[in-house]
Amino acid sequence: MKRLTELLDSNRQWAEKINKEDPLFFETLAQQQAPEYLWIGCSDSRVPANEIVDMLPGELFVHRNVSNLVVHTDMNCMSVIQYAVEVLKVKHIMVVGHYGCGGVKAAIETEPHGMIDNWLRNIRNVYKKHRDLLSAWDNSHQQLDRLCELNVIEQACNVCDTTIVQQAWAAEQDLTVHGWIYGLNDGLVNDLEFNASAAEEVDEQYGLAISKIEKLRELVQASEKDNQNARTLWDKVRSIFN
Ligand code: CO
Repeated sequence: MKRLTELLDSNRQWAEKINKEDPLFFETLAQQQAPEYLWIGCSDSRVPANEIVDMLPGELFVHRNVSNLVVHTDMNCMSVIQYAVEVLKVKHIMVVGHYGCGGVKAAIETEPHGMIDNWLRNIRNVYKKHRDLLSAWDNSHQQLDRLCELNVIEQACNVCDTTIVQQAWAAEQDLTVHGWIYGLNDGLVNDLEFNASAAEEVDEQYGLAISKIEKLRELVQASEKDNQNARTLWDKVRSIFN
């Protein structure tokens, strides 16, 4: 029989440390949770929700799956969104993708990966929808970065299109949906500047977000250098739009 002794020991030390800093922390937390944020992110072990935004237990409601997908028939994800919006009344939902996402990469490979390909089909649909835009990057690393970004924007739109969010907006609930992407190699979140706070803002925010990636394509095509990283490209795009 194997027990995870090391992890259980670490847990005890962690609880002791928090208790020392704030003796009422767990007692208060056990009575209620009132997070203002719902994080929908990738299951990737390198993208831990609370740590990235430096939040304590109780501050972030979290749903994670392979490649941060929001699929309308996924009762797990829909139930999380419903609970977060209707019961916890979160004010923000952020869809957080990450560069170098293995699921996104696998989605556009030709060899089969088994059952998971049915899940990844949703990303392949994103790829097909934006094939023209993505064809500007024959460099596969750049193309993967852009597909990771487009996937975030599409999934953020899917959140907006849920009956749950539509009903909350119809009732004038304070709720904004955001699209973010995280850099594994620098620990920084890149804000894709999709921020929708009402049903009528979704199309505009979607159009703006896509036009920024189109601008990025123009910059790449005008540039000699093919190896610019995402942050450099996005800083340029932002200086043009803002
Ligand atoms: Co991932």
